[in-house]
Formats: sequence, structure tokens, C-alpha cells
Amino acid sequence: VLDGNVLDGNAVSDRIREDLRESIDALDDAGVTPSLATVLMSTDPASETYVSMKQRACDDLNIDSVHRELDADAPAAELYDTIDDLNADPDVDGILVQMPVPDQVDKRRVLRSIDPAKDVDGFHPENVGRLVAGDPRFKPCTPHGIQRLLDAADVETEGAHAVVVGRSDIVGKPMANLLIQKAPDGNATVTVCHSRTEDLASMTRQADIVIAAAGYPELIDGSMIGDGAAVIDVGVNRVDADTEKGYELVGDVDFESAKGPADVITPVPGGVGPMTITMLLYNTVKAASQQAD
Ligand code: GUN
Repeated sequence: VLDGNVLDGNAVSDRIREDLRESIDALDDAGVTPSLATVLMSTDPASETYVSMKQRACDDLNIDSVHRELDADAPAAELYDTIDDLNADPDVDGILVQMPVPDQVDKRRVLRSIDPAKDVDGFHPENVGRLVAGDPRFKPCTPHGIQRLLDAADVETEGAHAVVVGRSDIVGKPMANLLIQKAPDGNATVTVCHSRTEDLASMTRQADIVIAAAGYPELIDGSMIGDGAAVIDVGVNRVDADTEKGYELVGDVDFESAKGPADVITPVPGGVGPMTITMLLYNTVKAASQQAD
């Protein structure tokens, strides 16, 4: 999974998907087919891409998927009603509402209204609470995928100083929570940095593990990385470029300069991204087996 010091997220992801295939076969023998509902209420091209990648990944693994698409300017009630329908549908094991949702929608109401047993993103307040309390039901996909990446590269979290750059509900906060928890995969000393942090470089330079999840292209360069650090780049920033699509994807890390001092580094694309989708599949299989019990 390592090519030099570059950690291949696709390779790690493929391994986990092979294990998932076995779980899915076993469920199939018991007459259960996991099923994921995706809901998109947005015209954001990135969100459209993410949802279609999630659907395709389900197809590959024989996970049933249904897709509901709502007009971005539809009344919020349409989204709330859609969620109620999916909650009540016994054929749906997991529900994912792609974020962000339009302004007329109350995001917190959306997160609250998804049945916590079907909340494969792990964003429902009950599931957030369980994670913080050290008893997670569904770990949020990106932080969970990062745990698996660190494990695959034999990066020890125990006793390490992890610096998380970014404080989002989707990545930064749950990542920090997982890293401070006890073993397995925890016991790190965690610093959380964000846009109001003074002297970010002095923080990241002290890190054994840097998790870059701020959403700023190439925020972190090689001069900010200590020798031997593991660098996990969560950024997926579209920057204008003279390419067929008119943009290119750039991480939160300046890969070329950070690759020097780092012992392990993830590329963009091909690092964290595939892991996020794989852990969504993992949570969907988990939801299906729990609901079959
Ligand atoms: N938007 C960005 N990341 C995510 C994610 O993991 N899940 C959902 N539902 N929306 C997102």
C-alpha cells in the first residue's frame, strides 16, 4: 500500500472492500441485501459527483441503492418528507443526505430526523454523542477511513502528537475525538487547529501526525512538516486550471514539498477519498446486519 512514502488509498480501500464482499455474501445467505438511500438536494457539481460515486460503489458490491433527487429550490418540507419515507421503509438500511443542503433547509433538523439506526454518516446528534462518549454506533466515514489508512501504513497513534487542522462536524471534530480515545487506534495527544489559530506552522511542525482538513488549497507546505511525520490530506479543492474540465483537484497540502520531510503522505486524489466511500459501504453493511438482528 506504500509506494516509497506515498500511501495508496485505493489499495487500502480495495482490501477492505474485499472483506466487505464476504460480509455481504454471508448476509445474502441469510436472505439480507444491504441497501443505501442517497438523497441529493443541490446543483453543486461536486455533490453530484460524490453521490454518483457512492451509488457506483454500492453497485460494485451488490449493495442495493435508491436515489432521491430534489430540486435545489424545492420547499424544505419535501426533504423532510423524503426522510420520513425512507425512515419508514423497511427495505432501506442506510440513509445519506448529501451535504451541504440549500439555505431554505434547516440542516440540524435534517440531521435530527434521520433514524439514528440508519444514519450511516454518523451525523445524528445521538450518534455524535455516542462517538464522543466512546461508544460509537457509526463512525463518520472520513475519520474512520483515516484510522484505517494510518493502521495500514503502521502509523502508531499511541503516544503520538496528532495535529488536526480543521474543526468541521464531518471531519475535524470526530477525527480529534477518535484520536484521543483509548486503544485501539487512539491514545494520541491531539491539538485541533483552525482558521483562527495563530502560527499554524509552529503547531504542525510539532506533529507526528498531521490531518489536513481545513478546505484551503495547499495551506500546508513542506516547511510546516516535521521530519518523519505522517501527513493525511483530506482536502478536495477545485482550483481553476487549464485542463479539459477547467479545474484540477488540489489537497490542503502542497504534496511535492511535504513529501520530502514526511515518512508517509496521502495523495489527492487517491488517498482519503476512496476510503470515505469504502467506510460508507462498511456502515451500510453494519446497518443492514444490525437491522436484521
Ligand atoms: N459532504 C461532504 N462530506 C460528506 C459526507 O461524508 N457525507 C455527506 N452526507 N455529505 C458530505
